[in-house]
Amino acid sequence: MTKVLVIGRGGREHALGWRLGKDKEGEVLYAPGNAGTEIEPETRNVDIKEDDFDGLTRLVKTESIDLVVVGPEGPLANGLVDHFYERGIRQVFGPTKAGARIEADKFYSFEVMRELGIPQAHSSPCEEARDIEAAVRTLASENGVVLKARGLHGGKGVRVYDSAAQAIDDIFPFISEFGDDVLVSERLFGEEFSVFGISDGTNVHLLPVGIQDHKRLRENDQGPNTGGMGAYGPASVADLQTLESVRDDVMIPVVQCMNDRGTPYIGFFYAGMMMTKEGPKALEFNCRLGDPETQVLMMLLEGDLYRALSSAVQDDISSLDLSIREGAALGVVLASQGYPGKPVTGKRIYGLGDIKDPNVKVFHMGTKVEEGNLVTGGGRVLCVTAYGVNLGEARKRAYQAAGEVKFDDMQYRIDIGAKALRGN
Ligand code: AMP
Ligand code: GLY
Repeated sequence: MTKVLVIGRGGREHALGWRLGKDKEGEVLYAPGNAGTEIEPETRNVDIKEDDFDGLTRLVKTESIDLVVVGPEGPLANGLVDHFYERGIRQVFGPTKAGARIEADKFYSFEVMRELGIPQAHSSPCEEARDIEAAVRTLASENGVVLKARGLHGGKGVRVYDSAAQAIDDIFPFISEFGDDVLVSERLFGEEFSVFGISDGTNVHLLPVGIQDHKRLRENDQGPNTGGMGAYGPASVADLQTLESVRDDVMIPVVQCMNDRGTPYIGFFYAGMMMTKEGPKALEFNCRLGDPETQVLMMLLEGDLYRALSSAVQDDISSLDLSIREGAALGVVLASQGYPGKPVTGKRIYGLGDIKDPNVKVFHMGTKVEEGNLVTGGGRVLCVTAYGVNLGEARKRAYQAAGEVKFDDMQYRIDIGAKALRGN
């Protein structure tokens, strides 16, 4: 019997484990998982947190886990995979601490892209307030400028300003929240899309679908940046040729560069791209899959994901059978009041049992069980995800199902996928 361990507790991990569970007879363990992963068939939540490296090591050994998949960036950036390797555990899909720098250190990813000539926003890494101000004056256009914290901040350490003056006013609040190391970037315009690949350390297997996330809290891309309020795919802005060019001109060069530097990168490679007037440019790299993009991706992915990830761990992804199903998928995130700031949690969730559509899957992002009741347990609570023969159908199904769910002061965007359907 095969045993897979998925590390993490969000919607991405729920979707990954759900999809991996379809590929193999066996059991999917989650550490720690959430209330949704607990009730999937043939699964088990184990109450070990993502930062308990010794506890996770013991679990992998005592349960004889065949494949470990690390979901979130935090433990990757803190060296969980290195910890496993040092203790003889090699069957791990996810990059080492050195690999995770592509996400955890925006100065590093900027330098790597610059060295490789990968198109990106003109940027300047700054370590002091007065350098930030000078860089803002140089890089801002009449349309604004962007400040990015160097480290990991759950998708919140990036602020986009409409003018240089706005950014300059915000330098001190920004650095007091996120620290002095700030990448100042030219503001780019265009449609965003996320591209995902599986890397075995030397090569990258493309998952051939572009997914579009919706990062702002409110409709029409207003309000603060969040971890993502909903997603759909395939994103019309990224056809197969574009996706292949991201693989060939962005992902493979980065993976080969890391291999040449003696820090081979094994794991999911996420390229956050923007389709500008001058063509696709890279906004960011992540060392893991996106959340909620994974939920959409897993509804569309066909083939043996378990074999794909196991092959990558064994350094050979030359013959994978992954493909993307015809049709479309769309996920709507239901969030708590207060998110992306401090969310109100512990609110009882109603209505999940009323969702009967077999093309809908509700992935749990932040839920728990208290006194036998399902309650909210985080900022982003559920991702109601649907498949359809086209985007319109997927969207209708997802919103119909989302309409069944209720909890106090629930907030969600009603325009996920709407722009693509309008065709602008
Ligand atoms: P990142 O974490 O770097 O992807 O940034 C988060 C979000 O901020 C992106 O998804 C974009 O919406 C926005 N963003 C980042 N960099 C830029 C840029 N150079 N120009 C415009 N928007 C950006
Ligand atoms: N949804 C964006 C991310 O996972 O980074």
